[in-house]
Amino acid sequence: MIDLRSDTVTLPSPAMRHAMAEAEVGDDVWGEDPTVRALEERSAELLGAEAGLLVASGTMGNLVGLLAHVPRGGEIIGPAEIHTFSSEGAGHAVVVGASARAIPAADDGTIDLVAVRGAVRDPSDVHQPISALITIENTHALSMGQPLAPAYMQSLAELARDVRIPLFIDGARLFNAAVALGVPARDLVPARASATFCLSKSLACPVGSVVVGDTAFIARARRARKMVGGGMRQAGIIAAAGLVALRDGPLGMIDRLADDHANARYLADALASMPGVTGLDPTRVRTNFVLFAIGDQGRWPDDRAGRERAVRTRAAFLARLEARGVRMIEYPEGRIRAIPHYGIERADIDTTIAATRAALAEVGLGPAVTSARAQPAVAPQVSRRTATGSGPEPRPGARGRP
Ligand SMILES: Cc1ncc(COP(=O)(O)O)c(C=O)c1O
Repeated sequence: MIDLRSDTVTLPSPAMRHAMAEAEVGDDVWGEDPTVRALEERSAELLGAEAGLLVASGTMGNLVGLLAHVPRGGEIIGPAEIHTFSSEGAGHAVVVGASARAIPAADDGTIDLVAVRGAVRDPSDVHQPISALITIENTHALSMGQPLAPAYMQSLAELARDVRIPLFIDGARLFNAAVALGVPARDLVPARASATFCLSKSLACPVGSVVVGDTAFIARARRARKMVGGGMRQAGIIAAAGLVALRDGPLGMIDRLADDHANARYLADALASMPGVTGLDPTRVRTNFVLFAIGDQGRWPDDRAGRERAVRTRAAFLARLEARGVRMIEYPEGRIRAIPHYGIERADIDTTIAATRAALAEVGLGPAVTSARAQPAVAPQVSRRTATGSGPEPRPGARGRP
């Protein structure tokens, strides 16, 4: 199975498995795991921060970051529909006790700085929540993984300093942004900002994220991590894989992200030329996300019947694709997502292109395909490349999976 649903389905590399088996470990809640400490130091070094903290997931990275910055009744300013606001069980509200001040994101994944400034509340007005944090997602998922450039991150940080509100970056795929922009990742984390990035997405580790920031922030985040049950004991076993991923050179996972981006663009170029594929400008594919729609309308229908029809067509298309050995996944506004990642080679993308063409024809959206390449594959099954079986289908229009 060629599983393009997410980069979270990546499996650890042989070097990671070896490092995990050999890892020197200790009790990390007591600060005694040398491998965790090494990972935290390496992460801080790469992102130009004072300290780091290993956490269980990207969601936990965001949660402890918020807990460390935002008091109960505080408000978080950030782009509408970012993962923090929309896909983490409302942890910002339930656990942190914060409200969200959502600003529509532009096509390039940024939020307008004037709008951010205008969203800051008047602290002397007892009616209003207290603006406590500005957050941003880099890469920005819903805009098809756009990388936010250092200049923008600096401007946002300057604004944050000016209004005396901390800046926290959800950098689940921050290294994708850095590679796409050709800059060191530390250029995307301005001075005094804090951030989190995921090891278990495009960097292909089995578990974990790292939070970085100044030492006082990390001390608060460490306390928050314990509170939410994220204190892990011999976590060096996890950290060992992270250290491999963050290595320079071919065993590491950062440089190779360029291959994923090239594969994403190659796939997008082919998809965009297919009758039945809509809403895809391949020049906007800058990292590992490919988002597209199918149908003959060219846009997400406004009416309910139209949407239901589009959702049914999409489900049929995805089922046909899966029968040909390729998995993609639903994304909001009727879209479909494909993410090339570690373990997906150019030949897999060629197979995907042929399977897509055939599946489109089968749902009546493209010319019939007769080539041998496009014949149905075996019944769908979970393979070496697939980390998990499929879970429950997301509702039409839901934000989608990680
Ligand atoms: C932008 C972003 N932030 C945070 C997360 C949460 O990561 P996790 O699934 O590890 O909790 C995701 C997951 O996909 C994400 O896309």
